Amino acid sequence: MAGQAEDDITSVLHESRLFKPASEFSKQAHVKSRAAYDRLCRRAEKDPEGFWGGLAEKELVWFKPWKKVLDWKPPFAKWFVGGSTNVAYNCLDRHLEGPRKNKAALIWEGEPGDSRILTYQDLHREVSQFANVLKNKGVKKGDRVAIYMPMIPELAVAMLSCARIGATHSIIFGGFSAAALRDRINDAEAKLVVTADGGHRKGGVITLKEKVDDALKDAPSVETMIVVKRTGNAVKMKKGRDFWWQDEMKGASAVCKAAALNAEHPLFILYTSGTTGKPKGVVHTTGGYLLGTTVTSKWIFDLKEEDTYWCTADIGWVTGHSYIIYGILSNGATSVMYEGVPTYPEADRLWEIVEKYRVNIFYTAPTAIRALSKLGKQWPKKHDLSSLRLLGTVGEPINPEAWMWYHTVIGGGRCPIVDTWWQTETGAIMITPLPGAIPAKPGSATLPFPGIAAEVVNKNGKKVPPNVGGYLVIKRPWPSMLRTVWRNPKRYKETYWSDIPGVYFSGDGARKDKDGYFWIMGRVDDVMNISGHRLGTMEVESALVSHSTVAESAVVGTPDEIKGTAICAFVTLELGQKPSEALRKKLKAHVTKEIGAIARPDQIRFTDNLPKTRSGKIMRRLLRDIAAGRESVGDTSTLEDYTVLAKLRHDEES
Ligand code: WTA
Repeated sequence: MAGQAEDDITSVLHESRLFKPASEFSKQAHVKSRAAYDRLCRRAEKDPEGFWGGLAEKELVWFKPWKKVLDWKPPFAKWFVGGSTNVAYNCLDRHLEGPRKNKAALIWEGEPGDSRILTYQDLHREVSQFANVLKNKGVKKGDRVAIYMPMIPELAVAMLSCARIGATHSIIFGGFSAAALRDRINDAEAKLVVTADGGHRKGGVITLKEKVDDALKDAPSVETMIVVKRTGNAVKMKKGRDFWWQDEMKGASAVCKAAALNAEHPLFILYTSGTTGKPKGVVHTTGGYLLGTTVTSKWIFDLKEEDTYWCTADIGWVTGHSYIIYGILSNGATSVMYEGVPTYPEADRLWEIVEKYRVNIFYTAPTAIRALSKLGKQWPKKHDLSSLRLLGTVGEPINPEAWMWYHTVIGGGRCPIVDTWWQTETGAIMITPLPGAIPAKPGSATLPFPGIAAEVVNKNGKKVPPNVGGYLVIKRPWPSMLRTVWRNPKRYKETYWSDIPGVYFSGDGARKDKDGYFWIMGRVDDVMNISGHRLGTMEVESALVSHSTVAESAVVGTPDEIKGTAICAFVTLELGQKPSEALRKKLKAHVTKEIGAIARPDQIRFTDNLPKTRSGKIMRRLLRDIAAGRESVGDTSTLEDYTVLAKLRHDEES
């Protein structure tokens, strides 16, 4: 085990398996070898502005060239200063000039089984029409539009329409409450809201318009609401304020020129909650964000003209913004979009969709992989998954066990897996294998994307030695970085640029191994201090999950008179396994064997479910409160299922 300087995070995960990309994959990949990757990195290191400027020229269409690639007044960056372009133009118009015009841009599948395919030409027409609808309702460049919708094609149309006229969108995930919606609308002072009567979920209908009505009781900035008719449930329309999407589109012209926008024009605001305090409105702009998402989509997902690509995220999260819509359509690729849950009507829905559309590239979250693996491999086995050639994950560290299941059961052992580390704030993927170039180690996000100056440092900003845990930082500005927190530059500076001198601090802990591979250890807020050793939660969780009876686990520290902090593990068992005192003992012994006595959980609590955010991240903050017997304080607006909390409180350790 590595040395333990003060402030280091002790790293205990040992994983030595290495998976090289097949040579047939490498041969056809955009980046074909480690040497090619190294060359890109060296070029970017030597001349970052030349590197990004060259890519911006090659990969994007500009209306007016920039005068300066980067204007850096720490911590405020401007990229492609003086340049003008349009994100919707790059995602749509430029593809209409050649054979892509009749290619599927979006393949959409509704939860009830209905589907729609929109070619680039179709999508361009609808976006132009809806852009005119927005204009007719008085929306101007710079105005904010709130979008609160199910995963239907109109969501894609709405966001691209905003981009087309320079309105800044703020998409609020359809699972949020009316109160959360109201706060986000008010913070951005949105002028118009786009929603739907409802959406299909788990075989039922989630009402949306109703929640917007509630939110608008106390949101004075909103003048207009546009409502897509999706589910046909009864809604009340307020005269003069509410309009049906379908009615407005009927009369709208399909001619709407894409506005020439400054490269730094705000494209969207996306709210993200930290562990405490009110959500932050992360601001992304036009040119740099588009460049970051375009280049990462191309190299990491290895997009080719004939590929069918599917990201299962909801567009309400940044993953959907960057890797269902902007980065993917900018490349002229085909993006699959699915409305519902993975287990409706049965546990094989995702695999059924892969088979139906012959999906080649599949991108999902570790939480989904763990949940689906728990249901057993008979579900994927029912389907022909041989079209898959590349898999990806995002959102959390992936436990090596889950990685192996994904690799063998879903990928048939032949597909590289890109474990992509990034954040709402980074806009685009930052640490990831390039699939044809970098051998993977299960559980590691591997190496920085070329041009991304990622490092692991201690509190003073000093690089830590290999295999010593520390803080994950980015040392140089990058094109798709957040520019500020909406109307709160002070909070931007304090949150991201103040803890560690001179660099962007991600809030994550990580270590680099001797090969320079990054191992993300989770949010540093979750770090436990056990007898003077700082332990990341992920490593103890992975040890638990590697036991054959365990499906999922979350580990937190809880105050202990003797040790300072004791380890409390919440454990969900595989189907058919029963909690028992004997199993508790076995699991404790298993962790001791895997990691050492220091990581041995003091308590193990069995539970059917763990509290998660709606994007699938385990909310360890809430578990900490439960473990310590405290009432939860702070923001729980992102929690997916409140009943989980009540149950956990009830299930005291016997
Ligand atoms: C975590 C999602 C480990 C991390 C794109 C980060 C990951 C936070 C990974 C951002 C990964 C994301 N391995 N951890 N591959 N990807 N994370 O803003 O803690 O929803 O800081 O963006 O998710 O979450 P966000």
